Amino acid sequence: MNNVKKLFMYMKPQNRFFYLSIALLILNIVLGMVNPYLQRLFVDKVLLKKDTTLLIKLVGLMISLSLITSLFNYLFTLLVEFSSQKTVSSIRQELYRHLQELSFSFYDKARTGELMSRLTGDLEGIRVFIPGGFLQFINSIVTFLIALIILFTINYKLTLLSLCLSPFLIYISSIFNKKLRSAFKDIRQEYAVLNTTIQENITGIKVVKAFVQELSEINRFKSVNKENMAKNIKVGYISGKYAPIMWFIGDISFVILIWFGGFLVQQHEMSLGELVQFNGYLWAMIWPLRALPNILNMFEQANTSGERIFGLLNQKPQIKNPENPVTVDKIYGNIVFENVSMKYDGEYVLKNINLSVEKGKKLAIMGATGAGKTSLVNLIGRYYDATEGKIKIDGIDIKQIDLYKLRSSIGIVMQETFLFSDTIKNNIAFGKPDATMDEIIEAAKAAEAHDFILEMPNGYNTIVGERGVGLSGGQKQRISLARAILKEPSILILDDATSSVDMETESLIQENIKNIAYGKTTFIIAHRISSVKDADEIIVLDNGYIVERGTHKELLKRKGIYYHNFREQYRTMMGEKAMDDLLQEVNA
Ligand code: UTP
Ligand code: MG
Repeated sequence: MNNVKKLFMYMKPQNRFFYLSIALLILNIVLGMVNPYLQRLFVDKVLLKKDTTLLIKLVGLMISLSLITSLFNYLFTLLVEFSSQKTVSSIRQELYRHLQELSFSFYDKARTGELMSRLTGDLEGIRVFIPGGFLQFINSIVTFLIALIILFTINYKLTLLSLCLSPFLIYISSIFNKKLRSAFKDIRQEYAVLNTTIQENITGIKVVKAFVQELSEINRFKSVNKENMAKNIKVGYISGKYAPIMWFIGDISFVILIWFGGFLVQQHEMSLGELVQFNGYLWAMIWPLRALPNILNMFEQANTSGERIFGLLNQKPQIKNPENPVTVDKIYGNIVFENVSMKYDGEYVLKNINLSVEKGKKLAIMGATGAGKTSLVNLIGRYYDATEGKIKIDGIDIKQIDLYKLRSSIGIVMQETFLFSDTIKNNIAFGKPDATMDEIIEAAKAAEAHDFILEMPNGYNTIVGERGVGLSGGQKQRISLARAILKEPSILILDDATSSVDMETESLIQENIKNIAYGKTTFIIAHRISSVKDADEIIVLDNGYIVERGTHKELLKRKGIYYHNFREQYRTMMGEKAMDDLLQEVNA
């Protein structure tokens, strides 16, 4: 029940309202206890002694009591709703904040559907627990105790006799509780699988259709859906079996009451009114015992949900902001890699990388797919940390620079572009929300995006992304490029940023970038020679190693991978002969 305890920590700010609702609840229980007493008076005084004036008083009292309890009930519901919603909303906020802090590596492994079910289904489990579990628990305990005390004062013999069945009730409840615990764990797990399946199918629906896998997807879902249903039915089956047992025991208690109680009335040890009153309190005492399984059930549910929610909150971000960051006013962008190696899951993907890129210089990175290009640039902004070696910016180890400062100074176009369901304008201004319209247009122009944006239905106010206008791959890349440029970063990283753009537009962008990148340290990953040939240094990665490095000319002279790439790309473009002449010239 540790997780339930943690839940109450989140309730603290709402404690005032929560305590007030508990007070109202207890008041209502006490008021409810008056009724059987009035019934006793009704039988003994009104029916048996024909006291009609008392009848009017009793009726008046009963109506007023009912009015007051209704009012209290109303206030109680409001207060409970307020405090439970507020608590859950603050946990949700905390979860969301936490999700922003977790590192890239967490998201490499996390499943979106599962995370979604934490923030929805699991939180709902917690929310319903507050009124349905915790307050019901208080309700049961208080009702049970008060009823028990009153029962003893009416007739202790009858009370003891009626109580003889309660050990059974408690025993059965505990068995029930154990069975439900595992059943609920299964349900939550299955719910997450269900969510993940739906989410992945929707995200990948185009692939599903293109590969005509709708039927097999439907069948796969059928089994997940069935499993989910089965797990839920199992809970129904467990509760279904136990509830009648509880009712049966309750009924037996009633039989004992009329049998032995009737005998006591006949013996004049009790009045008829007292028997009626006793019956009222007996039910008040028994229902909490019957409700117990349901309440324990809620505790279980809240506990499993809590375990998953707090488990997520306990995930520590792998990349942490340094506790005492070195104070830097501005990051200039002199970048040095010292013997950097990097592993993913135990496998080296970068080995002994040594680099030095001065402020304002341009480093181009080439290499086959999977060579480690993206992994290398991802280290600069500490999206991942190097396993060995050091990366320094302006002479300071990046692990000692404030993370926000570091990342703010980097403008990156990632290999996989992502745009938000928002206007083009807001997408470009994502990293600099206070940018003026002129700045946005300037960035878009530099990324060769301005013209096609103007052709969109609402220009810069056109909504793109999931719910918006469809964009081509190249258009998305150009908007991402504008987004990176607008930040005015000291370090610009372009990871295959123009791979989907046609050659002509690409060379226009290259021209623009020359101006934009002026003074900025630029890392450019590309496959086209035309994109990299002007770089101050070009490195070629192979299997995590730098296998070639130098300027365009130097690399052509080396006749290695770069040279062969060049031949491949230029042969068809300029013809074998012209190309050979060009290479001769270079080598001369
Ligand atoms: P990269 O993603 O760095 O390769 O992965 P790359 O050079 O940029 O390749 P392209 O041109 O974009 O295709 C380098 C290695 O790291 C592994 C990959 O399997 C690859 O072998 N890797 C990458 C992981 O193990 N986990 C990851 O999250 C990413
Ligand atoms: Mg890559």
